[in-house]
Amino acid sequence: MTTATGTYPLVTLNEFIIQRQGDFPYAKGELSRLLHHVGVAAKVVNEKINKAGLVDILGAAGDVNVQGEDVQKLDLFANHHFIAALRATSECCAIASEEDQEITLFDDGLSRDAKYVFCMDPLDGSSNIDVNVSVGTIFSIYRRISERGSPADLSDFLQPGTHQVAAGYIIYGSSTMLVYTTGKGVNGFTLDPSIGEFCLSHRDIRTPRQGRIYSINEGNYAHFPAGVKQYMKHCQVVDPDTRRPYSSRYIGSLVSDFHRNLLKGGIFMYPPTQKAPGGKLRLLYECNPVAFIAEQAGGRASDGHRRILDIPPESLHQRVPFYVGSPDMMEDLEGFLAQEG
Ligand code: AHG
Ligand code: MN
Ligand code: MN
Ligand code: MN
Repeated sequence: MTTATGTYPLVTLNEFIIQRQGDFPYAKGELSRLLHHVGVAAKVVNEKINKAGLVDILGAAGDVNVQGEDVQKLDLFANHHFIAALRATSECCAIASEEDQEITLFDDGLSRDAKYVFCMDPLDGSSNIDVNVSVGTIFSIYRRISERGSPADLSDFLQPGTHQVAAGYIIYGSSTMLVYTTGKGVNGFTLDPSIGEFCLSHRDIRTPRQGRIYSINEGNYAHFPAGVKQYMKHCQVVDPDTRRPYSSRYIGSLVSDFHRNLLKGGIFMYPPTQKAPGGKLRLLYECNPVAFIAEQAGGRASDGHRRILDIPPESLHQRVPFYVGSPDMMEDLEGFLAQEG
């Protein structure tokens, strides 16, 4: 049955979370409540983004963050609201955010005993905010390893990506979507503003093995590794049999570039550059969550040599070179990188 707002039965995010809670026999609903509150915070941020030009939420906030970036007002707005929503759940004992140098501890009684910690990039693609181009939020959830009841510490966050319990992103685009995984596939929910609900719109997302899109900031070409340069030439060769040349698509917001390639097939590359010789993207709250989703949808993610999810984090804001996408394209790229030794 099709209605004005969609096709029944509408499966809302909350209904889906509860349905899939059954995937985990010992689940008591803590993760479900955490994910529900991510959805609430996403709606709050979305409401502000949708009228950014009309309220005092555009432009720089006047600070420089731990990344050395000019903080945008929306960076701080999103950071504040996700922290507030997660504090309200009492299901999370601490948060690591791109916007905060140190972890934020939730030290009220209930939260201190919570079993999850949360990493986030509250607003990804900040440079696009003022020009009305899609931006996103990225999150990653781990079970804490420090003793419950005591304050969380760095060890809870410096876990390899393979330990993630859940990961996801919200993309504030032509429509607003929440995409997440708990290790049992990837599902996408589109916000229906008429009823204020995220509704299941992309069940069990699988990424194509081969795509025809490559995404990279070509302005940094001069300092790319030789293997990346050779792979770019490989993408640009005229060869109808392999449907090359591919198309170059780059939005400058990881969530938007990744989401398009996830659905259509493609490869996203952020190699080492002169400005960021160790890579620009952050392992904990950009690369690991996106890599988890990519792998759960049949894709791959590496730093050019190591599987992203296997990299043992050394610091909260650690940066790594990042390559993610369709498995056949990743294999081609890594072949060129291996040749350079
Ligand atoms: P953030 O806005 O959270 O700091 O992340 C920006 C990142 C990522 O979203 C995007 O892929 C990349 O920066 C773009 O970097 P360049 O502008 O250097 O290409
Ligand atoms: Mn930033
Ligand atoms: Mn980001
Ligand atoms: Mn950010």
